[in-house]
Amino acid sequence: MTLSIKSIASWSIVVLILMQFVPLNRINPPVPSQIQIPYTIKSSLKKACYDCHSYETKWTQIAYIAPASWLACGIVSSGRTALNFSTLKKNETRAPLLTTKLRHTVKKGSAHQQLYYLLKPEAQLSISETNSLLQWMN
Ligand code: HEC
Repeated sequence: MTLSIKSIASWSIVVLILMQFVPLNRINPPVPSQIQIPYTIKSSLKKACYDCHSYETKWTQIAYIAPASWLACGIVSSGRTALNFSTLKKNETRAPLLTTKLRHTVKKGSAHQQLYYLLKPEAQLSISETNSLLQWMN
């Protein structure tokens, strides 16, 4: 049995259309607590980290088209599980374990999620933003 290119193409389109109906958890729950940190530090984190590590995700268009949307939702949900700035208690921002992990991530370069920074280069931290984050964590 040979499948013609035409039938493969039309089945692919059908599958792609059906994929769009898979329900996804693309929600931003209310933010229970706003961490109390210096404004410049927070805006750096917001720019480079909040899309995956908070309830204030700015979902891009790509997050609405399956199967890219599945990837985006999966990354955001594991990012939120690993670290969620929206659910941190006020005093937790200075917790030693968290600062160690943060320092490690920031030091390696903010690009611990390469694909994201490739798609959204403006979210990447500049050298001076990286330096002030590291300084704040010391
Ligand atoms: C595109 C999504 C995304 C972005 C943007 C992002 N992260 Fe992550 N981050 C993840 C995911 C997913 C994980 C969990 C899996 C892993 O470690 O790769 C994670 C894990 C972490 C961890 C490890 C937590 C632990 O318990 O070990 C730290 C710390 C972290 N991220 C810090 C940051 C910081 C700081 C930024 C901003 C400079 C940032 N992340 C930006 C997705 C992201």
